[in-house]
Amino acid sequence: MAKAFSGIQPTGEIHLGNYIGALRNWKPESGSYYCVVDLHSMTMPWDPAEMLRNSRSTAAHLLALGLGEPSRVFLQSQVPEHAELSWILTCLGRMGELSRMTQYKSKGRGRQDVSVGLFAYPLLMAADILLYGVHEVPVGEDQKQHIELTRDLALRFNSRYGPVFTVPEPRISEVGARVLSLRNPQEKMSKSDPDPNSKILLTDGDDVIRKKIMTAVTDSGREVYYDPDEKPGISNLLEIAATLGGEAVEDLAARYRDKGYGAFKGAVADIVIGAVRPLRERVLELLASPTEIDEALERGRSHAHAEAGPMLDSVKRAIGLLVP
Ligand code: AMP
Ligand code: TRP
Repeated sequence: MAKAFSGIQPTGEIHLGNYIGALRNWKPESGSYYCVVDLHSMTMPWDPAEMLRNSRSTAAHLLALGLGEPSRVFLQSQVPEHAELSWILTCLGRMGELSRMTQYKSKGRGRQDVSVGLFAYPLLMAADILLYGVHEVPVGEDQKQHIELTRDLALRFNSRYGPVFTVPEPRISEVGARVLSLRNPQEKMSKSDPDPNSKILLTDGDDVIRKKIMTAVTDSGREVYYDPDEKPGISNLLEIAATLGGEAVEDLAARYRDKGYGAFKGAVADIVIGAVRPLRERVLELLASPTEIDEALERGRSHAHAEAGPMLDSVKRAIGLLVP
């Protein structure tokens, strides 16, 4: 397995979209790093107490998934090389290419009151990845464009200053790369959605999960089949259940085609409950043990710093900065 790097923002609780789109593809290989990107969560206004609570809780989820050993879990702000390389890349990135980022366009373009960080954020993300010399970046569909920018920056840097950076590849699954909101299947499932019924959390109990799935917004008609344009709600549930149940979407759809939405949703709920329960139990156990979380984060910080420090020195040498 190639070494991987990925990140997740501590802006709220981890949901099934995070798990299916990204976390289930994060593997605990030696040399891989999984980062709670707290500096990324500052592009929009934040509450300091909530930031720290969410950072620990997000870390607990990653540790519960077994990513703390031999791969490492750490907090971005504890490894100062991220912010430093980010500035260097800010001077390499171009206004034009950053203006084309769809996430910025949807949240900030044309507004005078958003932070500069919201615009510059993909450069910090590029720094995260490039510090670790990894080939693979497992993410959901919404991050693809940012990884393409990272590749462009790495190639531009290498051609100007010499071969310092590994050029990474996004790793995006074919099914489940964009899990949709249960309340509005035109939108992706999102941490920032205020409606708790729009998403399933990894800490939700069995009954809560069942209720959210049984009341999920579905489409007109009665037949169960996969067609994301005509049947976005049903297709979303098919993708969720197929990925978690380890079955092909078509096979699952064929079994429920004529059984009606109610029976289908009941089956989806069973699959999701079965997949989430063991994760929830481990997450809750770890959340009750903050010392264990902090100790794992300290080990993660020290390994990440040992990797990122020499890489930043190579960058500095290549661009003519004095390395002590
Ligand atoms: P975020 O919550 O924005 O920090 O995202 C963490 C990871 O989860 C990233 O790799 C995202 O691409 C992925 N992700 C977030 N929301 C979804 C979703 N609704 N469907 C699939 N992947 C997602
Ligand atoms: N921008 C990503 C998101 O919002 C999180 C992220 C930050 C990330 N740095 C990263 C993902 C590096 C992969 C690699 O979801």
